[in-house]
Amino acid sequence: MNKLTIVGGGSAYTPDILLSLLREKDLFAGWNWVLYDVAEEPARIVASLGQALANAACADVKVTYTLDKEEALDGARFILAQPRPGGLRHRALDERIPLRHGVIGQETVGPGGLSFAWRSIPVVIDLLDTAFKRAEPGFWFISYANPAGMVCEAVLKKYPNARFLALCDEPSGVQHEIAKLLRVEPWRLEMEYRGINHAGWVDHLYLKPAPGQDGETNDVLPKIRSWARWIPSLVPPIGEVFGTVRLIKEHGSLPDPYLRYYYYADVIFSHLSKLKMTRAEYLMGRVEKLYAYYQKEAASPKPQLRMHRGHASHSDLAASVILTLLSGRKGRFIIQQRNEGNVPGLPRGHAAQFPADVGPDGWRPVPVPPLTERQGALIRRIQEAEILNAEAALRGDRSLAVEAMATNPLVPSRAVAEKLVDELLEAHRELLPQFFDGSSSR
Ligand code: G6P
Ligand code: MN
Repeated sequence: MNKLTIVGGGSAYTPDILLSLLREKDLFAGWNWVLYDVAEEPARIVASLGQALANAACADVKVTYTLDKEEALDGARFILAQPRPGGLRHRALDERIPLRHGVIGQETVGPGGLSFAWRSIPVVIDLLDTAFKRAEPGFWFISYANPAGMVCEAVLKKYPNARFLALCDEPSGVQHEIAKLLRVEPWRLEMEYRGINHAGWVDHLYLKPAPGQDGETNDVLPKIRSWARWIPSLVPPIGEVFGTVRLIKEHGSLPDPYLRYYYYADVIFSHLSKLKMTRAEYLMGRVEKLYAYYQKEAASPKPQLRMHRGHASHSDLAASVILTLLSGRKGRFIIQQRNEGNVPGLPRGHAAQFPADVGPDGWRPVPVPPLTERQGALIRRIQEAEILNAEAALRGDRSLAVEAMATNPLVPSRAVAEKLVDELLEAHRELLPQFFDGSSSR
């Protein structure tokens, strides 16, 4: 039986992904979708909802779950990995601890992101170790695992030849939002994103003519730029949209919204330090409600999904990539893979995020203009820390982790870096054997 395995299958993100895959249900006739997780209850709920959605769509798909990694990966043709080691509880620690040291606490950016990589990277490498033994030869490994840039960096190092694509819904999310403003379908837009994950810029955003219509492909970024000038400045620019709009106004380019954490670090830090709950703490309650809703819908004769864990672009992107690969079509997506010189201004041989034509034979980068000096300078600093930290995570090397921490632009000094590393390592100790038990072989 053909198999698609979702790692972290019990995640609240999964139902929307399954629903998006059902758009082309015939491609999956006779398939088994396996949800692999470490926690049973959410996996059970999501699998039963997945099966109900598949049945309602008259799809010939069996949706199951397992807590056994080998069983999950046995014979898999596609693996979609979205693990979150330590769950929201450990994410909350990554968000809280840096705040005590005067630094932004965030899931993927700054100290929190570096710390998350120590947990995520060994898990993803271990999945690939197992997949190479158990999955179908030539399997595709599509990864949403965060922090995506560092995970990608580590995978490129350990498994340079894997059929691996790392994804992030940030560029496609921005694309969806801009499409709404322009009142066009999102797929008519093409973004020349270049950078790394959660840090990059777009200087050309092309709108293609509607199918069957003549016309030119136009760059609509000048229009967005002029609109941005009229959107009132909201200070402090905390909301993702407003941070993004401010960046457009001040730089004239379209940013990855996560750049706001670097450009407006002070104002965002002071906002975060006043909040009662961190994002993860807030999400704990929200996710609980989602599972209750999923359970209810799973039991309904006409299951629906009206509550969502993420932006529509999140499930759409993962599903579109898988459907493209499975159908044998070609599609253009913004992916993370090795920069072979196709992202001018960033180091060759390392992870980068860029548009590529993706098909069953692999991916081919789409040429993009170089980052400007000003854009590249910050991104290279962020990336330098990420490259060091990916290695630290693989080796369990504390002093390399300190080097990475001190290199990150949000960390004010080496002394603070030392404290952050020690405190974060200790907080996540149970999930970081490579740093503690001296048995690391990587
Ligand atoms: C976007 C980013 C992801 C990130 C997520 C966080 O989708 O691209 O990398 O994990 O936002 O959203 P959350 O709701 O968990 O704060
Ligand atoms: Mn992302």
